[in-house]
Amino acid sequence: MRNLFIAASFLLASSSAFAACSVDVDGNDAMQFNVKAIEIPSTCKDFTVNLTHSGKMPKAAMGHNWVLTKTADMQGVANDGATAGLAKEYVKADDARVIAHTKVIGAGETTSVTFPVSKLAADGKYSFFCSFPGHWALMKGTVTIK
Ligand code: CO
Repeated sequence: MRNLFIAASFLLASSSAFAACSVDVDGNDAMQFNVKAIEIPSTCKDFTVNLTHSGKMPKAAMGHNWVLTKTADMQGVANDGATAGLAKEYVKADDARVIAHTKVIGAGETTSVTFPVSKLAADGKYSFFCSFPGHWALMKGTVTIK
């Protein structure tokens, strides 16, 4: 039994040496993400973002999505997304500046998005943010390839 436990521990330890090709991000009623920086291992072919909303407010009042763009594009995409409205997930249709995005969720909901890591340059400057009107000022962070 003890040997079994040691073997299991070893397996767990060694599997954590492999890069995780996903990240869990939570948004709350205080208009905050619990993650400020996301590092994507260059060994990942695809990367998945799992978004949750731990607040109590509905998406019409405190909606959150996860949008990935070049940092230089963030403000423009956020402004156009605010105009696009909730029915369009606060993302302008066919916006080529948007590398990946989830739908907008409210309290208790979950969503995810998977995108090819090849869409990001190793030396590029990228940001993630919530494009719900006004949220991107607080709800944002960096995305880098490591
Ligand atoms: Co939000």
